[in-house]
Amino acid sequence: MRITIIGTGYVGLVTGACLAEVGHTVLCVDNDPRKVELLRAGGIPIYEPGLEELVQRNVGIGRLGFTQSTAEGVEKSDIIFIAVPTPPQADGSVDLSYIEGVAREIAISLTRYRIIVDKSTVPVKTAEKVAETIRRYCKTKVEFDVVSNPEFLREGFAVQDLMKPDRIVLGVNSPRPETAMREVYAPFKAPIIVTDTNSAELIKHAANSFLALKISYANALSVVCESAGANVLEVVRGMGLDERIGTRFLNAGLGFGGSCFPKDISAFIHISSQLGYDFRLLKEVQNINSEQMERFVKKIADTLWVIRDKRIGVLGLAFKQNTDDVRLSPAIDLCQRLLREGARLRVHDPKAMEKAKAVLPPGDQVEYVGDRDEVPEGCDALVIATEWPEFAALDLARARRSMTTPIVVDGRNLLDPAQMERHGFIYKSIGR
Ligand code: UDX
Repeated sequence: MRITIIGTGYVGLVTGACLAEVGHTVLCVDNDPRKVELLRAGGIPIYEPGLEELVQRNVGIGRLGFTQSTAEGVEKSDIIFIAVPTPPQADGSVDLSYIEGVAREIAISLTRYRIIVDKSTVPVKTAEKVAETIRRYCKTKVEFDVVSNPEFLREGFAVQDLMKPDRIVLGVNSPRPETAMREVYAPFKAPIIVTDTNSAELIKHAANSFLALKISYANALSVVCESAGANVLEVVRGMGLDERIGTRFLNAGLGFGGSCFPKDISAFIHISSQLGYDFRLLKEVQNINSEQMERFVKKIADTLWVIRDKRIGVLGLAFKQNTDDVRLSPAIDLCQRLLREGARLRVHDPKAMEKAKAVLPPGDQVEYVGDRDEVPEGCDALVIATEWPEFAALDLARARRSMTTPIVVDGRNLLDPAQMERHGFIYKSIGR
């Protein structure tokens, strides 16, 4: 099938590459000329395992192309995906101006029946608004359908999540677009849930909020475990083996961050309130998340007594493993809090150092260290802030020798307390 994707961010680019990979002819539209040029040359603007190969292969065989022109995208394809950003606003609501702008651009280029698919995460009722906008700005009377098809990919595992999805959600308000959308997704062999557009939009916000709720639940448990002398990892394992609960997304840590969960929960609370429901449960999920960070900084302060002028090594800057993304990263938040307390930082991340420099500029107070095992040198404490698996393989003997004081505060429960004790560390972690 001929498919256009408008917006080549994480979601748009991965979706475009994966749809091309399964045999569709895909044209990706982006209004940034440098991005289009880079992508045409086989480069990719983000770090995402497996994506570069996918883009290069499909560009090479002519199944994946890039353009700046929305008009070209609308003309050449039967199905137009919208995958532009939906950033948060100060009051927690979603800025839908990019979606609205694209809807207007599509409208003025529309000359034949097209299916317009919303992939971006949007509040319930957005598909209805998109349809209304297209009707309003389309010069002639052209038939079209708007479909809601939310994306559930995780950064760092985006290609894998897209190629092997748990489910595909299609929100349609008439039977006509369903057949074409089923054809788009036929090669993926995943269960397809067909519903109305409002329900499809709600599925996305409901799922992300529930996952964040699981994390806050684990973090709240970690506080109780710590006070009770219990081990949150054991408690969560015991709970999670109940199939109704499941072990995933119950890792206590520094709290959730990134470009999705914080934004989606705020948006869901906001839209619920507009619909007349005060979603107090989700407000508490937010509170637990911010308290978790405050508690962690206090833990570091309690261990060091005074933070000012202490040299602290920080392992991890990305908001989670397997990504170079530092947007709303708990690790960056932590670094900024430690800097405000007067600490001097030695920081490292396997992938996110370049992006981190924009928000955490190198200088007298912040030193970027290329080698993980060199970070502890001369430090009064070492903090683990992101769950990169390689941090669990830290050279402990070398760290012990090179640190001024052997204090490790593990915000992701990556290291083994017994082993840390054997190496002579003062070791603190979360909920154990
Ligand atoms: C999330 C959803 O998982 C995905 O389905 C949706 O499409 C977009 O939002 P992503 O933002 O890439 O994906 O990250 P995710 O892997 O879900 O992690 C989010 C945050 O939660 C990270 O900061 C991570 O460190 C934290 N987290 C995750 C925990 O603290 N504990 C856990 O058990 C799991």
